[in-house]
Order: sequence, then structure tokens, then C-alpha cells
Amino acid sequence: QNLPGKTAFVTGGASGIGLGIAKALLGAGMNVTIADIRQDHLDSAAAELDGGERVLAVKLDVTNREQFAQVADAVEAKFGKIHILVNNAGVAVVGPTELATFADWDWVMGVNVGGTINGIVTMLPRILAHGEGGHIVCTASMSALVPVGMTTIYSSGKAAVTSMMECMRPELEPRGVICSAFCPGAVQSNIADAAKTRPADLADTGYAEADKRRASGGNFMHLYQTKEQVGERVLEGILNDELYILTHSEFLTGVEERGLATTAAVQTHLPENPEYKETFAMLFR
Ligand code: NAI
Repeated sequence: QNLPGKTAFVTGGASGIGLGIAKALLGAGMNVTIADIRQDHLDSAAAELDGGERVLAVKLDVTNREQFAQVADAVEAKFGKIHILVNNAGVAVVGPTELATFADWDWVMGVNVGGTINGIVTMLPRILAHGEGGHIVCTASMSALVPVGMTTIYSSGKAAVTSMMECMRPELEPRGVICSAFCPGAVQSNIADAAKTRPADLADTGYAEADKRRASGGNFMHLYQTKEQVGERVLEGILNDELYILTHSEFLTGVEERGLATTAAVQTHLPENPEYKETFAMLFR
């Protein structure tokens, strides 16, 4: 990847992890667009990035498809082409699954999965059309790979975007577009404030009480990685064409255990049908 002079588009790029990624890509010589639903985040992030004409800060709700297309047009008008898409905007609710309302599911899935779908449908044809190659990174989470209790909505959405990258990778690599799933552990950010962007029509939450208790449960931010650390890690993952961009060695055992459990569950005692195996591999290459 020859990054200098090329253009990156980072959703949720005005805070936390997205801002860390934007910083690293700007540092690598790219033009960077940060797209975010919060104007106050955009203003402070633009000041922090201090990238002059190489930075565009635009308001975008990733769940709004028309707005997504308009913003993509505006980015192309300014920078010409888009090469790297980082689907990073995300929100979370945490707590027992039985408390979740439809609105809790719809809000988190709408932003974390729907927003990623909107990014792919809007940007992929544009990236393929210019033929200069590109990269799509989705910010998933370590919880996509190692199940974490009380995070059913959040983690299942992160598993979905990880799977999108796994499926798209072999399909798009021959056409010069590399796909990566970024799966960090805990990172210092403003995600605890995510409810501030929750739309009024999805306000009905089952977690109000659980949230209050969690908020008083202590602050462990000092144990988390910084946005700069993970931003540099994503840059490295892009430069190395990594499918899984991981950050936290603490989860090694969990990842191994999951791999071993799925491997052990394969029905090796049954006879294998070589024709089925070959046909399947051919059809879904
Ligand atoms: P953050 O809250 O600091 O940053 C997220 C940004 O996304 C905010 O500026 C917010 O305004 C924006 N956003 C929210 N909804 C949006 C929408 N509908 N359209 C456009 N922008 C929207 O949070 P953080 O932690 O940096 O989150 C970034 C991504 O990283 C998320 O996908 C999150 O799930 C993921 N993640 C975070 C981890 C952490 O420990 N902070 C760990 C693993 C994954």
C-alpha cells in the first residue's frame, strides 16, 4: 500500500478509536475524512488533528443512507478518490439479555451493523471503480472472537461485521481491495456517552437501571490502551494486509479455547465426501 496522497474515510472518526486511526493515517501521509454524528466531537477532533487541507470533518449519521451518499460525493469532490474505508462508528448497551427492548436491539444493530452495511454499499463500488486498490477496515471487537457475558447485542453485531470482512476478503483481494476486521480489547474512549446520540424513536431502553449501577462500579480506564496505540496498530495492520488486526495479548487463551472447541466439534468420525468438499470449495470460493 502506497498511502501518501491517498484518501481515507473514517466513520465515528471524531472520538476515541476512530480519531486514533485518523491520526495514524494522517501521519502516514493520507488525506483523511472524519465523519461523525456529533458536531462537538468533529470540532474538537479537527483541532486535535490539525491537518489543514488534508483533513475534512463532516457530519454523518451512518444509519442515514442518503446522507452517506452525499458525504461520499463531497469527499470525492474534495480529494478525488476514496481508498480506505474504516467502518468504525459504534455504540453499545451492556447488561442482561432479558432486559433488552426492541429499541435496544434496533439502535445498536442499526449503528454497528447497519452503519457498516451502509458504508460498504456506498463506498465499495466507488473504491472498485477507480481501480487504484483500497482497503476496508471494520472496527469489530475482541468480543466478536471471545464471547463476553452481558454483551449479547453488542458482541453479536461485532461478530457480524467480522464475518463480513472474512467473507469479502477472498472475494475482493484479487481486485485489489483488502478487508480487515479490527478486534481490539478495551480502549480509552467516550463510548460510555454513546446514549447521547440515541435517536428519540429508539429511546425505550431496558438498561436504565443497569447503566446506573455500572456507572457507579468504578473506572478502569487507566488499564485500557490509548487511541494513539490502537491507531498505530491499525495502520500497521493495513500496511501488512492483516485480516485480523488484534491488540490485546490477554485474550490469547480465550481465542485458543474457542478455536479448539469448534475444531473438537467437527464430526471427524463421519466419512468425508470428497465430491461435496470439492464442489463446496468451488462454489463458494
Ligand atoms: P467513542 O464514543 O469515543 O467514538 C465513537 C464515535 O462514533 C463518536 O464520536 C460518536 O459520536 C460516533 N457515532 C456514534 N453513532 C454514530 C452514528 N450513528 N453515525 C456516525 N457516528 C456515530 O467510542 P469508541 O470506543 O472509540 O468506539 C469506536 C468503535 O470501537 C466502536 O465501533 C466500538 O464498538 C469499538 N470498540 C471500542 C472498544 C473500547 O474499549 N472503547 C473496544 C472494542 C471495540
